[in-house]
Amino acid sequence: MKTASSSSSSSHGFPATASLCTPYLLLVPLGLLAVVLVVPSLGSSHVRSDGLGVLCRAGPSAADGYLVTPGGDAASAAAETKAVVRPELRLLVGVLTTPKRYERRNIVRLAYALQPAVPPGVAQVDVRFVFCCVADPVDAQLVALEAARHGDILVLNCTENMNDGKTHEYLSSVPRMFASSPYDYVMKTDDDTYLRVAALVDELRHKPRDDVYLGYGFAVGDDPMQFMHGMGYVVSWDVATWVSTNEDILRYNDTHGPEDLLVGKWLNIGRRGKNRYSLRPRMYDLNWDMDNFRPDTVLVHMLKDNRRWAAAFRYFNVTAGLQPSNLYHFP
Ligand SMILES: *[C@@H]1O[C@H](CO)[C@@H](O)[C@H](O)[C@H]1NC(C)=O
Ligand SMILES: *[C@@H]1O[C@H](CO)[C@@H](O)[C@H](O)[C@H]1NC(C)=O
Ligand SMILES: *[C@@H]1O[C@H](CO)[C@@H](O)[C@H](O)[C@H]1NC(C)=O
Repeated sequence: MKTASSSSSSSHGFPATASLCTPYLLLVPLGLLAVVLVVPSLGSSHVRSDGLGVLCRAGPSAADGYLVTPGGDAASAAAETKAVVRPELRLLVGVLTTPKRYERRNIVRLAYALQPAVPPGVAQVDVRFVFCCVADPVDAQLVALEAARHGDILVLNCTENMNDGKTHEYLSSVPRMFASSPYDYVMKTDDDTYLRVAALVDELRHKPRDDVYLGYGFAVGDDPMQFMHGMGYVVSWDVATWVSTNEDILRYNDTHGPEDLLVGKWLNIGRRGKNRYSLRPRMYDLNWDMDNFRPDTVLVHMLKDNRRWAAAFRYFNVTAGLQPSNLYHFP
């Protein structure tokens, strides 16, 4: 499987991505630079919106982007049919991260790229790395390279933060950004989480498409699922849309604090996300000794260093299919 532009054919999607994204090669860096350099002098809204438009455009044709589809020949076949055959469900996965985490992002990108295939008729899964405005000009240029190369960058209109409204900005921007081709589900996850996309899709397939709030349920008092842990949770499109239009959340300044708990609070007050599912124990934190991996994992969290990522890749046999070669040998 792979993540690549819809029509890509190589296992890394290089040729197709390059041709599909040719305009981006010019536009994205300009867009980013516009955001970064011009905003202070011109005032934010117009320029930022141009920048966002360029960076985040993912309209109907943007089956280009970052798909989780089968690898090899199946991938190109799947990609070609994808434009016509609507999959059972479409899922946007937002990996919230920060510009300077280049090394981690590289690992996470590979983690998504090297996963077992999701059958093409079943799901379209687009993975995006989610930032607030990239303020540093060096980072802006380097992140623009990633946008041009991988097409998996999404920049929100906010100042980088974790518990000061970034999640709210994400959930409320996505329904606008993708208004022309809505997803069924929106996921928020982090760059210390290994998500097994096929396993999640299997869970979502038979769930309702509306009023869903799914994740690692956190019990408070009598409520077994008062909110979903920030390691990774999914809301249906209607719920994200509701968040985006709910002015009370901002009026009551209810975006400052632990983001996962707050999402639960908004939904509880608004009586949304009533179709609630906890995927415990298939979602979990990796423990200190790294010995609690499970074969039916949907998501494992707390991969906070390379050693822990390596353990996950080893456990899930991610490189098992690596062809023998006289160019390398791994024990
Ligand atoms: C970005 O956020 C600022 C501050 O909240 C707001 O004034 C501005 O209109 C926003 N710009 C866009 C393009 O949404
Ligand atoms: C919102 O909450 C933050 C953090 O608690 C605080 O700094 C800020 O002043 C508050 N803003 C308003 C408008 O109440
Ligand atoms: C990894 O491969 C080994 C050996 O083939 C197998 O026993 C194990 O179940 C695999 N692990 C997972 C998580 O699929």
